[in-house]
Amino acid sequence: MRIAIIGGGAVGGLIAHYLYRAGIRDIDVYYASMASVEAVRRNKGITIIIDNAEYNVPVTPYSSLSPNGVYDVVFNCVKSHQVKDTIDLLRRITDSETIIVMLQNGFGGQELVYEKISSERTVFGAVYFGAYRRDRHIVELRGPGPLFIGREKGLYPDMLEIAGKLRRGGCDTRVTSKIMFYRWLKLGVNSVINPLTAIARAPNKIVLTPAGLALASEILDEVVLAAEKHGIKLDKNRLLRLVKRIAESTRDNYSSMAQDILAGRRTEIDYINGYVAKIVGDGVNKTITHVIHLIEAGVLS
Ligand SMILES: NC(=O)c1ccc[n+]([C@@H]2O[C@H](COP(=O)([O-])OP(=O)(O)OC[C@H]3O[C@@H](n4cnc5c(N)ncnc54)[C@H](OP(=O)(O)O)[C@@H]3O)[C@@H](O)[C@H]2O)c1
Repeated sequence: MRIAIIGGGAVGGLIAHYLYRAGIRDIDVYYASMASVEAVRRNKGITIIIDNAEYNVPVTPYSSLSPNGVYDVVFNCVKSHQVKDTIDLLRRITDSETIIVMLQNGFGGQELVYEKISSERTVFGAVYFGAYRRDRHIVELRGPGPLFIGREKGLYPDMLEIAGKLRRGGCDTRVTSKIMFYRWLKLGVNSVINPLTAIARAPNKIVLTPAGLALASEILDEVVLAAEKHGIKLDKNRLLRLVKRIAESTRDNYSSMAQDILAGRRTEIDYINGYVAKIVGDGVNKTITHVIHLIEAGVLS
């Protein structure tokens, strides 16, 4: 089975680690920048840190401009707004048999590949583990959690095989036809923790303050409504409890959106709260999306 990973960042690095631990060799990893390709080449792979233990994962790094043939399975692990820039590469490294596993948070990024490349071969994903990219070639597992992959209709033998390999490598991988439910549930968690911590530039425990919980409740009312419009039933109280549990267990961590704002990078707001706003119209998710855009543009600090 020829396997490639597009995006060897936090999520892609860990996927490479789990595959390698399952005995898969010759893993090709594609990067946007030559700086990352060179850093990984110099390091002879990606360094993964789990519970203070270091593992070397000897992948072969490639620039996204230099495709190395066609693969059986491609994991797409770039950020949602970067997916559009992987379409050309995907066209060159996949054929009618390749399955493409999409691992972005939110909605919109995964759908782009479903629409532009293949509705048949795209497998959706929901990542519930937390990872941090310390350096271009160093990734740390910050919070273990399951990985859900699947399609609403039809499961491929290749998908089951790859899930089995990820499990053997230590990743709690579950194949499900209820993948949209798990994606919405994850969006619910992200829709609260990400923007609140990004606006406050504070760690996740900010969500547990009275004002944080009041906002969480308003945000989730709209998330539940948006999910319902897409045929997914979420229980608001259970979702709020999940958000609180995650904010508590990761209380001193900075969410990826907070990290993006602190580093002056673009966030995934349009694919999380912005996506909810597109479905429900005016409301707190739309306001939050505008506020994050103002911060991204540097006009609000
Ligand atoms: N990190 C987490 O804990 C976590 C958890 C759940 C879900 N997610 C989701 O997973 C997705 C990926 O997040 P992440 O944290 O892994 O991101 P990340 O650490 O920023 O990694 C993104 C990687 O994608 C590469 N890339 C960008 N554009 C590319 C292109 N056109 N061709 C090839 N490679 C390209 C980047 O290359 P360069 O190195 O050259 O810049 C980088 O290696 C996001 O949607 C995020 O919301 C993340």
